[in-house]
Amino acid sequence: MTLSVLSVASEAVPLVKTGGLADVAGALPAALAPHGVATTTLLPGYPAVLEKLGKAKEIHAWPSLLGEPARLLSGKLGAQPLLVLDAPGFYARTGGPYGDASGKDWADNWRRFAALGRAAADIAGGAVKRQAFDLVHAHDWQAAMACAYMRYAPFKGRRVPSVMTIHNMAFQGYYPAAIFPGLELPQEAWAIDGVESYGGVGFLKAGMQSAQAVTTVSPTYALEVRSAEFGMGLEGLVEAKGDRVRGILNGIDSAEWNPAHDPHIAAAYTARTLARRTANKRALETEMGLDSDDGPLFVVISRLTWQKGMDVLPEVLDHLVGNGARLALIGSGDSAIESALHAAAARQPGRIGVRIGYDEALSHRMQAGGDAILVPSRFEPCGLTQLYALAYGCVPVVSRTGGLADTVIDANPAALNAGVATGVQMNGVNYHALAAAITRTVALYRDPATWRQLQLNGMKCDFSWRQSGKAYAELYASLVAETT
Ligand code: ADP
Ligand code: GLC
Repeated sequence: MTLSVLSVASEAVPLVKTGGLADVAGALPAALAPHGVATTTLLPGYPAVLEKLGKAKEIHAWPSLLGEPARLLSGKLGAQPLLVLDAPGFYARTGGPYGDASGKDWADNWRRFAALGRAAADIAGGAVKRQAFDLVHAHDWQAAMACAYMRYAPFKGRRVPSVMTIHNMAFQGYYPAAIFPGLELPQEAWAIDGVESYGGVGFLKAGMQSAQAVTTVSPTYALEVRSAEFGMGLEGLVEAKGDRVRGILNGIDSAEWNPAHDPHIAAAYTARTLARRTANKRALETEMGLDSDDGPLFVVISRLTWQKGMDVLPEVLDHLVGNGARLALIGSGDSAIESALHAAAARQPGRIGVRIGYDEALSHRMQAGGDAILVPSRFEPCGLTQLYALAYGCVPVVSRTGGLADTVIDANPAALNAGVATGVQMNGVNYHALAAAITRTVALYRDPATWRQLQLNGMKCDFSWRQSGKAYAELYASLVAETT
């Protein structure tokens, strides 16, 4: 039996990306296909999306979707079907998906993303000819209202179940109560088990309350969000949902992230031809203005935020350099962190190379040329850069949290003895933990046989979508069976 799923997201590669959500929403449809799931993705029609979409067919129009005219265009996301919500009043703006060029959130984000949810609920209910779905899968707070509209104000057609996936509990789409009338929901939705959250409107909360299942992107994060530290106010709800909240680890797109066939890197390689990585290291040193030597080269590819532990990183860079190591970093985010990184690079010319910005191709070259990647996150629902690193023989040095804890095997004596270690884990995110992890990593690097074993163990790991695609497909099937 084929199940038809409508996946609703605010970003998806290759059309629009600000983080890991885009990688997941872009790759999951192809991963589900072998399991009998046909996925259509619904995205907002930002200028970048419309431009890449080219000439597309209009298949539906709303005279007013939460106050703005909108139409639905059909196209392709890679080889998979795509629906684009073209509502110029909401999405035809210069800047990013969520804010202007300076990074300031759009003031009407609640309406922009409620409209996305309203459209999804209409489509799921059968408003659009020849678009019938068995289930809706909503990703993050931006898509969460789909589940609430399906529950409280469904289009008068078919009723189907929904799944809410939390990619990051820190972003909940929380707004003042005054927006409630603008959502055009019935009054009954204003309830503790509805959209109300701490006196305001919580989009993610509404999605979690309304969906038939809630998932998050790693098993450890699914446990962590039951605590106040990680649940960010929704820990009680997670606890109450019990086994309706589960963790399904993200996979990676192994066609896109494969050092044997990566058009972005200087020299292709496999586990058998690992020595060829050196050419990528030399190329990266040149590109980043670093000294060329055989000492360890750390890389960082990250949003520069507190979540990612990036506030601690600048403090530890003199220690890193003092250990004979160098660092190449690409990232953007908090301006204070950017300045501190620039200052470290100025202090340590040839040893620290910093690139502020977003560069997908450079991120591939860093994975292929770096010896180790630093991921000192305070919390990490899944994390993808450590997974790409494993595939590229770039040893991950991570904090023991969320998906990082689930995917990296620390090079402790037991794991080294058993020959299964793939990286280095640290406990806690502070100067001492990070400095100690760097010292430990450099010592491992200086033992070539052990280092090679770490790299090869990582490259052998299978973090493709194979298993997780199956897990989502099984979840969908169980919910559909339960509903019909
Ligand atoms: P998050 O989504 O929380 O930022 P993830 O590790 O899940 O973290 O995903 C981040 C994604 O964004 C990865 O694909 C990573 O390679 C990419 N990325 C992050 N920062 C940059 C950057 N400055 N340039 C290029 N790619 C980046
Ligand atoms: C979020 C999380 C990250 C996760 C990504 C994709 O951005 O911060 O840990 O990998 O979503 O699920």
